Amino acid sequence: MPPRKKTDAPVEPPKAPARGGRKAPLLEPATSKDVAAESRRRGKALSATAGGESDYPVEVSRDGSSGAGQRPPLITEVEATIPVVIPSGARSPVDDIVEVLKKEVIGQDRAISAISRALLRAREGFRTPGRPISVMFFAGPTGVGKTETVRALAKALHDDYRAVLKIDCSEYSEPHAIARLIGAPPGYVGSDLPAVFQRENVEGVKNRVILFDEVEKGHYRLHNLLLQIMDEGRITLARRTKEDDGSVSFEDCIVIMTSNIGAFDIDNILHASRIGFRNEPPAATAAQTDYQIYTAAKEAMKRMFSPEFRNRLTEFIVFRALSRHSLYDILQKLLNISAARFAGMGFHLKLSSAARDWLVDRGIDQELGVRPLVRAVEKYIDTKVAELHAYGLIREGDMLEAVVEEVEPYPDGRPRREIKFMRAPRLEELEPGAKAPRRRKVTKTEIVVERY
Ligand SMILES: Nc1ncnc2c1ncn2[C@@H]1O[C@H](COP(=O)(O)OP(=O)(O)O)[C@@H](O)[C@H]1O
Ligand SMILES: [Mg+2]
Repeated sequence: MPPRKKTDAPVEPPKAPARGGRKAPLLEPATSKDVAAESRRRGKALSATAGGESDYPVEVSRDGSSGAGQRPPLITEVEATIPVVIPSGARSPVDDIVEVLKKEVIGQDRAISAISRALLRAREGFRTPGRPISVMFFAGPTGVGKTETVRALAKALHDDYRAVLKIDCSEYSEPHAIARLIGAPPGYVGSDLPAVFQRENVEGVKNRVILFDEVEKGHYRLHNLLLQIMDEGRITLARRTKEDDGSVSFEDCIVIMTSNIGAFDIDNILHASRIGFRNEPPAATAAQTDYQIYTAAKEAMKRMFSPEFRNRLTEFIVFRALSRHSLYDILQKLLNISAARFAGMGFHLKLSSAARDWLVDRGIDQELGVRPLVRAVEKYIDTKVAELHAYGLIREGDMLEAVVEEVEPYPDGRPRREIKFMRAPRLEELEPGAKAPRRRKVTKTEIVVERY
């Protein structure tokens, strides 16, 4: 918005052009005082002749002048009496994206709202030409869905999780590594290798998602490159020719950085609050902890990145620690992926609720976020089923159930429980004349499973 003299005038959205194809007459007031007076006069005229054809209030451009060819005016003095609020249930143009994000990323609705606001703003044209569409910074504890959100965004925008140009910044902690991004000049090591940021990788696709993962681990030369991308929206490759200046534009890109900045402080906060997972805190404490995490991340951001850098971000988004409740939803999502794979192999799997509890207990770790849960599903479900399959113990058409059984206690006497797989009897195993079990109903025919 151009700066304007204070007129106390309410702002009104531009009016549609007058009917009859006639161009709106635009006045050219000499001074801004005249502008205000004119604006007031016109505003009154407008409200008096509501729906009238020709009268537009005056628009003032940045230099205080107005002229032909400008958009319809903005400042009028009409009485604003109608509240402009978004009704509940209204859909915005980025709602489809938000739906995909919410489905894929669990328990981070606040972060997703911030992303949707940033995307909406860019879509409505509130972005600086020549710069990336949006530059977002995801901070927060580890393993709570930052990188996953970027993959989900790629899925929403390009229908493919992998449609992300991902820069693992930990691989760029040495100054010379930058050459891999922008190429090496002729004669230098690596000059024959294509640059990561070569044009085909960056340009030519609308809404290209570029991820700088764990950005704090990159060398400051990488941060400088990022500054340039944020500021000028373009970089120059090392290989240039007379015909080609080697510049690459990031104008159509959504740049996202993820980071664990403040991880140490955040861990301490999580420990102190004992948030989530094993002990679900009361809502007030959870909100307080959220706020503390936000503050810790913000403070760490101030220490790690220059004001120049911070100022160029469109959005600074802090992901929160996940609650135990969210862990069950994430488990369901992970199991759906496994189940789809098993269905492809021809058998069905179901989990008893005790097995779910058992997995969630195994998957709980304040410092590592959800990663232990991902590993628990891999180790105790995927790998075991693969093993059973490899030993020929299960085969196409089988219905499996994972249950929990009590096994011999730990040496110190603590009770010990393990996941065990059962399967429904196959038709040929049934007594003659017995009723076949209903599909998906798993009865207790045992499969021998070696324990890990
Ligand atoms: N909020 C979440 N919703 C769904 N899955 C999640 C969530 N957080 C973590 N995960 C799972 O855990 C894994 C690690 O999460 P990731 O996004 O890489 O963590 P980070 O926040 O450290 O980037 C992901 O691959 C995903 O399967
Ligand atoms: Mg990550």
